[in-house]
Amino acid sequence: MSPFNSSTLQIPDVADIPRHVAIIMDGNGRWAKRRFLPRVAGHKKGVDALRRVVRAAMERGIGHLTVFAFSSENWRRPPEEVSYLMQLFKGALEREVSRLHTNGIRFRAIGDLRAFDERLVAMIRSAEALTRDNSALTLTIAANYGGRWDILQAVEKMLAHNPGRVDGFSEEMFAPHLALSDAPEPDLLIRTGGEQRISNFMLWQLAYAEFYFTNALWPEFGSRELDRAIHSYQQRERRFGRTSEQLAQSSNPEEVEAAGRNA
Ligand code: IPE
Ligand code: IPE
Ligand code: MG
Repeated sequence: MSPFNSSTLQIPDVADIPRHVAIIMDGNGRWAKRRFLPRVAGHKKGVDALRRVVRAAMERGIGHLTVFAFSSENWRRPPEEVSYLMQLFKGALEREVSRLHTNGIRFRAIGDLRAFDERLVAMIRSAEALTRDNSALTLTIAANYGGRWDILQAVEKMLAHNPGRVDGFSEEMFAPHLALSDAPEPDLLIRTGGEQRISNFMLWQLAYAEFYFTNALWPEFGSRELDRAIHSYQQRERRFGRTSEQLAQSSNPEEVEAAGRNA
C-alpha cells in the first residue's frame, strides 16, 4: 500500500461492510416544520439520531464514520440558528465525550475551526486528545467544513512543504495534506433529507464513493435506515474504472491492476 489511500492510484480493497461511511445529515429543519416546531427542535433531535447511528456503526464494524454537521456555507443561515447550533455542539461535547471514550471511539473534527469561539475549539481539542488512542471507531465531525476549503488548505500546505517547486506535483504530494488523509476514502456516502447533491462536502475524497440518497429526514434516521444503506451498498459493483468482466476474472484487485498496467 502507498503511504496514503488513493482510489485513483490503487484499487482499494472492497469489503462487505464499508470501512468508511460519510453522512450528510440533512432534513432537521423540515422534520421540525412538519411538526410545527421551530427548526432548532429538529437540530436537537438530530443529535439523538447521531448517537443512534454511532452506536449502530460501531456494532456493524464500520471503522470510520464522518458526518457533516456544519458547512462553510451554513454561516448564511439566520444568526439565531447558527448560534443555537454552536450551543448544541458544545452541549453535545460536554455530555457525550466521556461516553465516546468509554466505548473506545476516537473523536476528531475537520474544518476551519478558527471561526469558532475559543471555548468550543478547546473542547474539541481536548476531546481529540482524550480519545486519540481509541480504535473501535473513528467519529469525525465536519464543522465549518467545505470541500473547496479542504483542497485549498491542502494546496497551501503542499506548497509550504515543497519550497520553490512550481510544477510536477502529484497526488502523493498533495493528498496527505487533505483532511482525513489517514483514513481510507469513504466507501459509502449517505445523504438524508431527499436532496441529491454533495453541497461542498468531501469533493476530493468522495471520488469513488457509492452514493445513497434517502428521503428519510435526519432526525428519523437510525439503525434500520443505516442497514438499508449498507444493503444497497452491498449490491453495487465497484469497478474503479475496470469492466465487469475483469472483476469476474479475478477476485484479487491487485492482479487485475497489474494486468492492466502490463497490457
Ligand atoms: C441539516 O438539516 C443540519 C444542518 C445543515 C446544520 P437542515 O437544517 O439543513 O434541514 P433542512 O434541510 O432545512 O430540512
Ligand atoms: C448540507 O446541508 C450541510 C450539512 C448537512 C451540514 P444543507 O442543508 O446546508 O445543504 P443545502 O444548502 O441544502 O445544499
Ligand atoms: Mg438542509
